[in-house]
Amino acid sequence: MTHPHPTPRRFSLSPPLTGRIAIPGDKSISHRALMLSALAVGTSRVTGLLEGHDVLATAAAMRAMGASIERTGEGAWNIDGVGVGSLLQPREALDMGNSGTSTRLLMGLVASHPITVTFTGDASLSGRPMGRVIDPLSQMGADISASPGAKGTQTLPLMVRGLAPAIPLAYRLPMASAQVKSAVLLAGLNTPGITEVVEPVPTRDHSERMLRGFGADLSVETGADGTRHIRVRGEAELRPQTIVVPGDPSSAAFFIVAALLVPGSDVTIANVGLNPTRAGLVEVLQAMGGDITLLDAREVGGEPVADLRVRHSVLKGIEVDPAVAPSMIDEYPILFVAAALAEGRTVTTGLDELRVKESDRLAVMAAGLAAIGARVEESEDGLIIDGSGGDPLAGGATIAGHLDHRICMSFAIAGLVSKAPVTIDDMAPVATSFPNFEALLEGLQG
Ligand code: S3P
Repeated sequence: MTHPHPTPRRFSLSPPLTGRIAIPGDKSISHRALMLSALAVGTSRVTGLLEGHDVLATAAAMRAMGASIERTGEGAWNIDGVGVGSLLQPREALDMGNSGTSTRLLMGLVASHPITVTFTGDASLSGRPMGRVIDPLSQMGADISASPGAKGTQTLPLMVRGLAPAIPLAYRLPMASAQVKSAVLLAGLNTPGITEVVEPVPTRDHSERMLRGFGADLSVETGADGTRHIRVRGEAELRPQTIVVPGDPSSAAFFIVAALLVPGSDVTIANVGLNPTRAGLVEVLQAMGGDITLLDAREVGGEPVADLRVRHSVLKGIEVDPAVAPSMIDEYPILFVAAALAEGRTVTTGLDELRVKESDRLAVMAAGLAAIGARVEESEDGLIIDGSGGDPLAGGATIAGHLDHRICMSFAIAGLVSKAPVTIDDMAPVATSFPNFEALLEGLQG
């Protein structure tokens, strides 16, 4: 799977990475900022918005459903919302491109509005399971027809016929998914009464934080066993906000690992979001011996943020506790690269969800790492990696990115610590989440 016009790139053994960079805005927060602003009555202002293809797909969709959305400068956007309950019927199908977050969250919004919307996407997104949102949204009264998909998974293209008023639901998440949680909460915004999501394992809580920020009546109660009960009162009135989007820890991850692995490196990454539901990678890398210092810890837009100083380190393999998975779910591909250069064995488990991301990230990472000389074994729900102890990998292979931005960036970083160059067959998908990835890398190489 590549774009119609693939952009192959080669990454070679790197000189030390040095300097200071700021990474683009958080993708999860950017999606939510556009969606909630589009539902508030009045003008919201967002700065630091990620201008990647995924977020632009959300912007286009909210425009198609009635919001006025205007770019006023780099990362600066003004949004005039329509009000909860007033989304308009789009004239055409909404093309979600590669973006699972746009698709699943917008399906939630549409489910409780009296409109019918068709969702389409690229080859990667069209293979991803949508049954996980179809189930709860159907219980709320939406009528959803999806394509059958492989092995009976329900996939795009699909059509959502919303119901207003929808039926409030109390829903226990069958898997750790912030997208499913958010889809139900967003559907609850225009549903009379209380909609509740029960979350046995905490996942990223940006929706909860931002819904509260916009004035929704939302409560979170954590039981003795750690189960979270999130309740939102429907027929909400959202008030416009000014939002500053912090830098994306999932994008910072590639440069954190690059600086740890490339000998002689000393890099400061400014303004990294460190919400505890997202910061698992930093903890795991520190436990592996990574020299990562948090500087100037502060709060930006209701989210904890710090600058990270990262210096080259000799990493040690570890057993990664599966309980941290939700807080670093998008960071496993780059953690696997770090493990491939560490001393000793790294064992990861509990990662079934990685098989249904933009690609099957367990299979694709295992195959790619083996192709560049790493010692890796794939299990049903994780990888076992015996690291090189800091020696460069062999490299010298072409990696298929499978339309998965994080696979492309992970192997780009692997190329920096490989004897022979690593070629990525198509770097175009990186523009979904991190358009200036290559420019920042070149800047650090001096
Ligand atoms: C996201 C949630 C995660 C993550 C995705 C973004 C979000 O997916 O992998 O990149 O913004 O809610 P799941 O909730 O499906 O685990």
